Amino acid sequence: MIKKILITGGAGFIGSHVIRRFVKRYPDYSIVNLDKLTYAGNLENLREIEDYPNYSFIKGDIVDLGFLSELFTTEKFDGVIHLAAESHVDRSLENPAEFAITNIVGTLNLLQAARINWKDNFSNKLFYHISTDEVYGSLEHGGHFTEETPVDPRSPYSASKAGSDHFVKAFHNSYGLPVIISRCSNNYGPNHFPEKLIPLMIHNVIHNKPLPVYGKGENVRDWLYVEDHASAIDVIFHKGKSGEVYNIGGNNEWRNIDLVKLLCQIMDSKLKREKGTSEKLITYVKDRLGHDLRYAIDSSRLQRELGWSPSIDFPKGLEKTVDWYLNNREWLDHVTSGAYREYYQSMYHNR
Ligand code: NAD
Ligand code: TYD
Repeated sequence: MIKKILITGGAGFIGSHVIRRFVKRYPDYSIVNLDKLTYAGNLENLREIEDYPNYSFIKGDIVDLGFLSELFTTEKFDGVIHLAAESHVDRSLENPAEFAITNIVGTLNLLQAARINWKDNFSNKLFYHISTDEVYGSLEHGGHFTEETPVDPRSPYSASKAGSDHFVKAFHNSYGLPVIISRCSNNYGPNHFPEKLIPLMIHNVIHNKPLPVYGKGENVRDWLYVEDHASAIDVIFHKGKSGEVYNIGGNNEWRNIDLVKLLCQIMDSKLKREKGTSEKLITYVKDRLGHDLRYAIDSSRLQRELGWSPSIDFPKGLEKTVDWYLNNREWLDHVTSGAYREYYQSMYHNR
């Protein structure tokens, strides 16, 4: 039975949901969160479980191989769930090299540290890599990405994630390292950094700021509630087959403009504003470079073979998300003002 699990990127959006789930559901596991605490890493996301005895946090960088080798030697992990990454497409357009370094070199270093520490004796070990549907490229108006769709990344972000996927597969082929890759569609929900579409729009509606829709707003994304992604990761980690790829998605496609309008309606009602108030904030802005038109993922394999299915439908999930942001304005204020960075100092200065 796997006992000690390293989760990377656990202070980020998805990682914090995965950590909360594992720490609460598996008291017999020791969960170690390794995070560099970049702008996207926020330990306030983990307040609820930070004092659990089966949880610990280590601040560190996956790009530092010496540090990782030492960490693997002292901690003796049985499994790795790897989420740490640079994750925002717009930032990748500004600084592609940073994405190559973190996402490709960082993943390669983790693979090396695991392989060397596990000394090629891989029984009961697993390296689980969290990837994205964006590695498959962009779809026109028909069809879905399946696990057999060729990888065809189009942004620096997706290229760096595809590069990391290739290294994960190479370590399986070349050294026999037990690995699994999952590729999920766009996530939404609590703790999402307000640079991504949904939390950015929520934040701007609250503050009566323009809602910047790229291009004509006709790009399509397939949205999944973040806790459904965490439950899929749980199922795949425990029941998935080594060497396999699993797609994860909600079968829930929305054009950006329709999504933003639905969000505006929910916000008007929650904020008791006159109908149509928030929609007036919509502003069409210059399109993203190389903007992928459509993502849509076929997750039938995961549903059929491992019995997973999403549990939260979109309007309900979106309402839950809006409620969370309205009830956690302090979180949003800390993130937008940068004050969340002080939390690490106050919590961890003596650890
Ligand atoms: P995020 O940007 O919210 O969090 C990333 C975390 O990684 C942060 O806590 C950050 O501090 C940490 N990190 C970054 N560089 C690091 C380094 N060098 N060493 C250690 N830690 C580092 O990202 P997210 O949205 O939670 O995404 C998590 C993973 O899931 C990523 O691998 C991403 O590619 C993948 N993914 C995300 C989505 C989505 O919709 N957000 C969808 C599919 C897959
Ligand atoms: P995003 O949340 O950045 O996720 P991704 O690019 O990884 O899919 O963007 C989701 C969609 O929303 C994408 O088509 C770009 C678009 N978008 C806007 O129209 N305005 C914005 O301000 C942002 C951040 C995104």
